[in-house]
Amino acid sequence: MKETKAPTPHKRGKLGVLLPGMGAVATTLMTGVFLSRRGLASPTGSLTQQGTMNGKKGTAPTAVREAMDLTPLSDIVFGTWDIFPDSALDVAKNAGVLETRHLDVVADELSAVLPMKGVFWPHYVKRLNGTHIKSVTSKADAVEQLRRDIQRFKQENGLERAVAVWTGSTEVHTPLCEVHQSQQAFVRGLAESDPAITPSQIYAWACILEGVAFANGSPNNAVDFPAIVTLAHDQGVPIAGKDFKTGQTWMKTLLAPGLKARSLGVNGWFSTNILGNRDGEVLDDPESFRTKELSKLGVLESILDPNQFPELYGHMHHKVRIEYYPPRGDSKEGWDNIDLCGWLGYPMQIKVNFLCRDSILAAPIVLDVALLLDMASRLGFHGTQEWLGFYWKCPMTEVGAGAENDVFIQHGRLMSTMRSMSREPFASTTHADALIEQ
Ligand SMILES: NC(=O)c1ccc[n+]([C@@H]2O[C@H](COP(=O)([O-])OP(=O)(O)OC[C@H]3O[C@@H](n4cnc5c(N)ncnc54)[C@H](O)[C@@H]3O)[C@@H](O)[C@H]2O)c1
Repeated sequence: MKETKAPTPHKRGKLGVLLPGMGAVATTLMTGVFLSRRGLASPTGSLTQQGTMNGKKGTAPTAVREAMDLTPLSDIVFGTWDIFPDSALDVAKNAGVLETRHLDVVADELSAVLPMKGVFWPHYVKRLNGTHIKSVTSKADAVEQLRRDIQRFKQENGLERAVAVWTGSTEVHTPLCEVHQSQQAFVRGLAESDPAITPSQIYAWACILEGVAFANGSPNNAVDFPAIVTLAHDQGVPIAGKDFKTGQTWMKTLLAPGLKARSLGVNGWFSTNILGNRDGEVLDDPESFRTKELSKLGVLESILDPNQFPELYGHMHHKVRIEYYPPRGDSKEGWDNIDLCGWLGYPMQIKVNFLCRDSILAAPIVLDVALLLDMASRLGFHGTQEWLGFYWKCPMTEVGAGAENDVFIQHGRLMSTMRSMSREPFASTTHADALIEQ
C-alpha cells in the first residue's frame, strides 16, 4: 500500500463505477443508490453512508461521510458489462430481489443502464449461454476492446476517474500456473489466448492498464496472482478482494473469534444453505462450486489456528454445502451446526438459522468498496489493499498467505486506515489503533 505518485486527494467531478457482471447484486446496488439519492430509501448496511468515526479523544463521533472526502452518491455514474443485453430494470425484475414499489420509482434510471458486451467463453461459467458477447481474435484483443469501452464510458460521461468491482459470476476453478507468474508471461498468454487466463482476469488487466482500481467480489482468481499485483504497483492502482463476505461466512467470522476468546474447542462445523438465484444456479456446477468452496473453507482454520491450538481445534471437521433450490430465489437460508466442547471436554451444540437476502447484504459492500478504493486511488495507494479485508470472505494479501479473518480485528484495521485517510481531526490514529496495526 505504498505511495509513489503525487497524491491528488480531492475528488473532481463524478466517479464512474464499473460493474463487470450486471446481475442481482449489481442491480440491487444501483436501485439502492438511485433511491437513496432521491431521498426515497436509506442505504442501510453501508459503513461509508451510515457509520461513524471517532476523532481525537473527547470529541463526539462524526459520520464517516463527513469525516472523509468520499464521493457523494449523487456523483456516481454506473457502467456495466454483461453477456446478456437486458437493461438493469429487466435484470432487477428477473432477479426478484426488490419489490416493484422500489423498482417503479427509479425505472427510468434503471432502464437507461444497458450493459456493454461482455468478454466470455462458456467453458468458464458452464451454466450460462451468453448472447451479448464481444467477438475477439485473441484474449489480448479482448483486453484492448475492454480498454476502449472504459475510455468511451469515461469520455461520454465526462469522467476523470473510475473504479471497478467484479459482480460477475463465479468461474470454474482455474488453478494459477506459469502464465500468471510475471507480466511478461501473462502478456504472452493473452496473445496466445492461454486457457488458464479467465475472463475476470482479462477485465481486471484491462482496468488496471486504464488506471481503474479493481475489486473482486467473487472467489475467482481475478486479481490475486503475481503478474497482476506487480502491474497494479507499476500503474499505481489499488486492487482488493475477494468474494463478498455476506451471509454464512460473515456469521462464521463473528462466532469463531468468540469461541476462541473463551478457549472453547470445536469438533465440527457443518454449514449448508439453499438459494435459488442465478448465482445459485452457477454454483450448482461442481467446478464453479469448487472455486466457492475453497474461498469458504479457509476462514475457520485461519481464525481458530489448529496448529497453535491442536487440543481445541486440531480435530475439527469443517464442511460447506450449497444447494441450488429455485423456489427460494435470492432469499437464501443458511444452517450451521457447530459441535463445540467445554470444561472437561463436555459437548455442546450451537445451531444458526440465518434467513438472509444475499444481494441485500452484498450491495452495501460494493458501494463501500467502490468509494473507499476511489479514495485510496486519489491518495496514491497501490497494490493489494489489505485493510479492506473486512469486506471479503477470502481477504487478499500481498504475500498470498497470512490473511486476517477475525472480523473484529479486520474492523479495527479498516477504521484505523480510514481515519488515517480522513480529514483532521480524525487523521491521527489512537493508541488502540496503533496496537491493532502492529
Ligand atoms: N450475493 C451475495 O451475497 C454474494 C456474496 C459473495 C459473492 N458473491 C458473488 O458476486 C457475484 C455476483 O452475484 P449475483 O448474485 O449478482 O450473481 P448473478 O448471477 O445474478 O449475476 C452475475 C452476472 O454476471 C454475468 N456474467 C458472467 N460472466 C460474465 C462475463 N465474463 N462478463 C460479463 N458478465 C458476466 C452474468 O450474466 C450475470 O448477469 C457472483 O460471483 C457471486 O458468487 C455474491
